[in-house]
Amino acid sequence: MDFEFIRVHTEPPIAVVTLDRPKVLNALSPALVEEVTTALGQLDQDASIRAVVLTGGPKVFAAGADIGDMAERTPIEQLQRDQTGRWLKLTSFTKPLIAAVNGYALGGGCEMALMCDLIIAGDSARFGQPEINLGIIAGAGGTQRWTRTAGKYIAMEVNLTGRPITAWRAYQLGLVNRVVPAEVTIEVAKQVARQIATRAPIAARLAKESVNQALETPLSEGLAVERKNFYFLFATEDQKEGMKAFLEKRPAEFKGR
Ligand code: CAA
Repeated sequence: MDFEFIRVHTEPPIAVVTLDRPKVLNALSPALVEEVTTALGQLDQDASIRAVVLTGGPKVFAAGADIGDMAERTPIEQLQRDQTGRWLKLTSFTKPLIAAVNGYALGGGCEMALMCDLIIAGDSARFGQPEINLGIIAGAGGTQRWTRTAGKYIAMEVNLTGRPITAWRAYQLGLVNRVVPAEVTIEVAKQVARQIATRAPIAARLAKESVNQALETPLSEGLAVERKNFYFLFATEDQKEGMKAFLEKRPAEFKGR
């Protein structure tokens, strides 16, 4: 499928999805978000792809939801089109999704990065929830995911002041995995994706599912989910191959079966 607002580049076993509305700093219009979720849906079905990088390119990740698109909306229109509810499709992507963030990741842009599984930040990255400056609040997870990741007081700070934080502060807060020079952000994210892509795909899927479960359930329930996933993996060929390869002192060749 041809996309208008994003670019999708596959180089199996990884793919790179690039937001591509540079004139408006990759403002996240409904059409752009729809394209992202459609592309991820296709990549989820593509067995040759084992991990995906989501980026805004070298200068900016995304400056938020498209303000021009929202300015005159009524609550009923927002409800009926479920503007930000649709973004949740991003979180049903089953493969590892790595955000490569340069420059602004603001509002919905920051929320989109926080929906990814890992975040590689260029030293130019700025993360924030400036919605309060527009008379609204974050609507795609900004009050919730900051709180779960960085704690109540940081979440209050970014959501109440609207001021973005630097890549290094985000790193100190555990919001991003690595900070690298902006020129290499996408390459480093691709390296991480390639590394993950060498691992057993079904195990990666269940590891992702199990970690995400930790945010949704009490510990005992999360541990039960993890245990079931752990036992389930003994039904895969990859588990037999992984353990055999270890004992034979050779690299494992995982097939995703
Ligand atoms: N929506 C629509 N257009 C946007 C945009 C957005 N979120 N962010 C930037 N643009 C446009 C600007 O209007 C401008 O267009 P023109 O050239 O036609 O004037 C172009 O992108 C370049 O932007 P600036 O000239 O403002 O660039 P700058 O470098 O001076 O400033 C910035 C950069 C600080 C990011 C500034 O653009 C800005 O504050 N943007 C808005 C950020 C924001 O408020 N985001 C939250 C949106 S609400 C949301 O996301 C809700 C949610 O939770 C889902």
